[in-house]
Amino acid sequence: MSPFFIIFVVIPLSYATFHDFKSYKDYKVYSIEGNNENLSKIMEFLNSMAEIPFYDIRNSRAEVMIAPELDSIFSNATDLFRLKKKIIVNDYSEIIAEEKGGSRKDSQFSWTAYYDIDGIYGYLKNMSTIYSNWTELVEGGQSYEGRKILGLRINTPTDVDKVKNIVFIESGIHAREWITPATTTYFINQLLTSTDPAITSLRDQFEWQIFPSVNPDGYQYTHKRDRMWRKTRSKSSFFCHGADPNRNWDYNWGQYGISTDPCNYQLYAGSQPFSEVETRTLSKYIAELDNIVAYIAFHADAQMLLVPYSDSVEHTSNYDDLIKIGKSSLEYGEKVNGEKYDGPATAAEILYKASGGSMDWVRNQLATPLVYTYELRGTYFHWPPSKIFEQGDEVTQMMVGLFNEACNLGYC
Ligand SMILES: *[C@@H]1O[C@H](CO)[C@@H](O)[C@H](O)[C@H]1NC(C)=O
Ligand SMILES: *[C@@H]1O[C@H](CO)[C@@H](O)[C@H](O)[C@H]1NC(C)=O
Ligand SMILES: *[C@@H]1O[C@H](CO)[C@@H](O)[C@H](O)[C@H]1NC(C)=O
Ligand SMILES: *[C@@H]1O[C@H](CO)[C@@H](O)[C@H](O)[C@H]1NC(C)=O
Ligand SMILES: [Zn+2]
Repeated sequence: MSPFFIIFVVIPLSYATFHDFKSYKDYKVYSIEGNNENLSKIMEFLNSMAEIPFYDIRNSRAEVMIAPELDSIFSNATDLFRLKKKIIVNDYSEIIAEEKGGSRKDSQFSWTAYYDIDGIYGYLKNMSTIYSNWTELVEGGQSYEGRKILGLRINTPTDVDKVKNIVFIESGIHAREWITPATTTYFINQLLTSTDPAITSLRDQFEWQIFPSVNPDGYQYTHKRDRMWRKTRSKSSFFCHGADPNRNWDYNWGQYGISTDPCNYQLYAGSQPFSEVETRTLSKYIAELDNIVAYIAFHADAQMLLVPYSDSVEHTSNYDDLIKIGKSSLEYGEKVNGEKYDGPATAAEILYKASGGSMDWVRNQLATPLVYTYELRGTYFHWPPSKIFEQGDEVTQMMVGLFNEACNLGYC
């Protein structure tokens, strides 16, 4: 055990004060480089001492968010472990301040501001009323704090008398990835209002089930208390809350890329598979839909496209098709803003191994042929509200490109 542990364990854990929105004043993001094993060790050490709102280790490099009161300890620890450090964000509060602008309080929903869960659900309800001939509000499950997991089912009538395949869209499972619910509602708006034939035919071809925020408690918490919150809000120990809902699904649960510590800010996998009511109820809902052809999950902000499985480098039976289809999706997306995404590939190959994610469970349990995770863009979960439409248009074209190639290959 590191000597630092013994010396500094007396420093009290920092808990957010009760009713305030945590400011993140003077929280820094560092990049640290060096020996991989030492990177893991320093993270273990830091996590044992205090809440680390964000960290990410990928071969020989890590990024970590450090509270001002932890700065001197952090600095000494990087010296001890011989790691090179560099400040990449000097004051995270300045980054989140930008999100408070926009028109969040306006009665009219828009894509130039971020809305809390009531705003998003209000939008879904409105759409289900305005487009009552095409759409229906659907309940995919429940949350710990008693919210519904609401989605919009879009199913336009067709002349042919056949049951359409379902495209299921899951977004916002990680609470702080704000661009994902915003992009998903943008995509809903495109499906309902666009007159572009590529989009209207995409809309008409499938039954859509779109869930902008499948972790509604966590999402609301990021609006009211802590912008960096990622997990659910269940009580996981005497002091700590939540589990990572994308490590909680019942497939290879608890194996890679997880924490067994209920206080771990990011990666606690829960007390058992489906310990969280959100994943338990949502998985049941999904399993009852017979004809899902595609399951698409949205995350931020690694800017990549992932295919199953996330905890293995072994390839699925239709891996080659998934890659071809994924490439078409990225090509269409790139045409919008010139942005290149990494992949398509498995997370184990280009990100890191992680077990217990929804994508892997869906693929394994339901044998859904087309399963993807999109990691959208941003910096530390931030994306300027004035530019939501940029990613919205990119994602819309990514969906057009995805299903064009999927249909070419006989999946439609
Ligand atoms: C870090 O190291 C410096 C120099 O050795 C020392 O003065 C300082 O007290 C240390 N800080 C902490 C928090 O241990
Ligand atoms: C890793 O950290 C230890 C101290 O805990 C140090 O002695 C060692 O030199 C470091 N390894 C590398 C490769 O820097
Ligand atoms: C829903 O529609 C009502 C009535 O048109 C409007 O007042 C309200 O602002 C809308 N809410 C959202 C979230 O769009
Ligand atoms: C469904 O409702 C929308 C909005 O009122 C309308 O634009 C559309 O033409 C309707 N479609 C059909 C098939 O009735
Ligand atoms: Zn995520």
